[in-house]
Amino acid sequence: MRTIESLGQLRGRTVIVRCDLNVPLADGVITDDGRIRASLTTIRELREAGAKIVLISHLGRPQGEPEERFSLRPVSVRMGELLGAPVSFVEETVGEAATAAVSALGEGDVVLLENLRFNAGETSKDDDARRAFAQRLADLGDAFVSDGFGVVHRRQASVTDLAQLLPSAAGRLVAGELEVLRRLTEEAERPYAVVLGGSKVSDKLGVISHLIERVDTLLIGGGMVFTFLAAQGHGVAASLLEQDQLDTVRGYLETAEQRGVRIVLPTDIVVAEAFAADAAHEVVPADAIESSAFGAAGIGLDIGPDSAAAFAQVIAESKTVFWNGPMGVFEMDAFAGGTRAVARALTETSGFTVVGGGDSAAAVRALGFADDQFGHISTGGGASLEFLEGKTLPGLEVLA
Ligand code: 3PG
Repeated sequence: MRTIESLGQLRGRTVIVRCDLNVPLADGVITDDGRIRASLTTIRELREAGAKIVLISHLGRPQGEPEERFSLRPVSVRMGELLGAPVSFVEETVGEAATAAVSALGEGDVVLLENLRFNAGETSKDDDARRAFAQRLADLGDAFVSDGFGVVHRRQASVTDLAQLLPSAAGRLVAGELEVLRRLTEEAERPYAVVLGGSKVSDKLGVISHLIERVDTLLIGGGMVFTFLAAQGHGVAASLLEQDQLDTVRGYLETAEQRGVRIVLPTDIVVAEAFAADAAHEVVPADAIESSAFGAAGIGLDIGPDSAAAFAQVIAESKTVFWNGPMGVFEMDAFAGGTRAVARALTETSGFTVVGGGDSAAAVRALGFADDQFGHISTGGGASLEFLEGKTLPGLEVLA
């Protein structure tokens, strides 16, 4: 992997840095600035080296046209505060204003361009369209640093094509993430437990089938629990269920048994009358969800306290733990207990712990935990999962 050193002397040169500044926003206010903080190391280093710095990123999933709610402007303000230096902002990604702002940069200056995905070329499936947009980006600089770990699994103009058009290297964030993920894939200390949550099994198929061959214990929480419970023949009332995944899940349970891998499912569930923060709710055994006070209308929204304690116990006994995906609807206090318990267990174990993903990272911060209580908090959700699946990530391949 080429690192920044490979780019040579940077003083006075214009360096384009692809960051992942895709932060959660509520009414235009950033609710978790973790990805901005994670980007600072590379930016600081480039400033000290005297480079002129052009930051580029996406935010959300606009469809190739400007949309005010996906503007990176609030990010430029927060970035300036955290960097302790002005970060100017340009309301377009490529064009006259962007070219003028980049030409005006002095050594150590930083500009952030508007959301890359306001341009259809960024995410286009057409190679020529993507390449043409990447060329316009490349025209703005002399070198390229890829530091948006959260997007290295995407074949997009600013991730893959741009890296081929300019002298390019991995930034410190990408290099650091890779070091940690390699520790999980190549030299994980045993026992190795993986905690998977989130709503859909279908989002996690690749990673589950890959990990079943490699870990000691797989702990399953979140909405996908109900497909596992249904696969075991239990009723799940109105909880989230992916009927079309039942056979796949049965296959996982069989493979795990054959290989001696433990799949730990919750034994109790917090069932609610409705999907609402103030909904009536009760804890019932996982194999008796339909017998809750809410009958067939009951919705499972969190793992129960016994399950949380059992998960915490497995985590405490493990030497390596990777966690992706909340255990329940943690945004609602009544259904945050499982996610909080898993997060706490991760902070208390002496093993090496990695929290994977934008959502999981935001969850632990929202629940009041600090980054330094974990071994590592990855900035990439999809990217870290695809890495653990053993896939080749196009954004890393181009930096080899
Ligand atoms: C993420 O949030 O995982 C990254 O920013 C990638 O975003 P995307 O899934 O919209 O490509």
